[in-house]
Amino acid sequence: MQFTLLISTIVALLTAFTSAQPVARNALDVWSPTVLSPTSTTVWTQGQQYNVTWDTSDAPSQISNGASVRLGVQHTLTDTVLADGFDLRQGWVTVTAPVVPSGSEYTIILFGDSGNESEEFSIIAAYLHL
Ligand SMILES: *[C@@H]1O[C@H](CO)[C@@H](O)[C@H](O)[C@H]1NC(C)=O
Ligand SMILES: *[C@@H]1O[C@H](CO)[C@@H](O)[C@H](O)[C@H]1NC(C)=O
Repeated sequence: MQFTLLISTIVALLTAFTSAQPVARNALDVWSPTVLSPTSTTVWTQGQQYNVTWDTSDAPSQISNGASVRLGVQHTLTDTVLADGFDLRQGWVTVTAPVVPSGSEYTIILFGDSGNESEEFSIIAAYLHL
């Protein structure tokens, strides 16, 4: 009886421990690379192509798929997806500057397992260059 009680206590403890960490994967799987560009001095012209780049020097050997680049405004994520389905270990992806109101408070957020944001940069209307 005492033995059975001990076993069920251990099982209960183990269950509590595992369910408290439902997504406990290899810690290295969560990688949020530092965005190298765009930076605060970057200006994108609508419709032109630019490279978003990030630091891959600390890339883990195993990362999940589903990387994407999203546009942010004033550090708030928008629905605008600039790129997805690329390999995060590549360190760069080419995007087309979206047609959005001209402004200097845009960011890109690079998503892998987690997201990391660029510095604020500018996107301007193409006609301003004519
Ligand atoms: C996000 O990038 C910054 C630098 O831009 C870096 O200091 C930080 O460690 C990164 N965040 C995470 C969660 O890795
Ligand atoms: C983006 O980077 C790749 C690799 O360095 C290069 O081949 C390509 O020309 C770049 N594209 C732009 C738009 O800068």
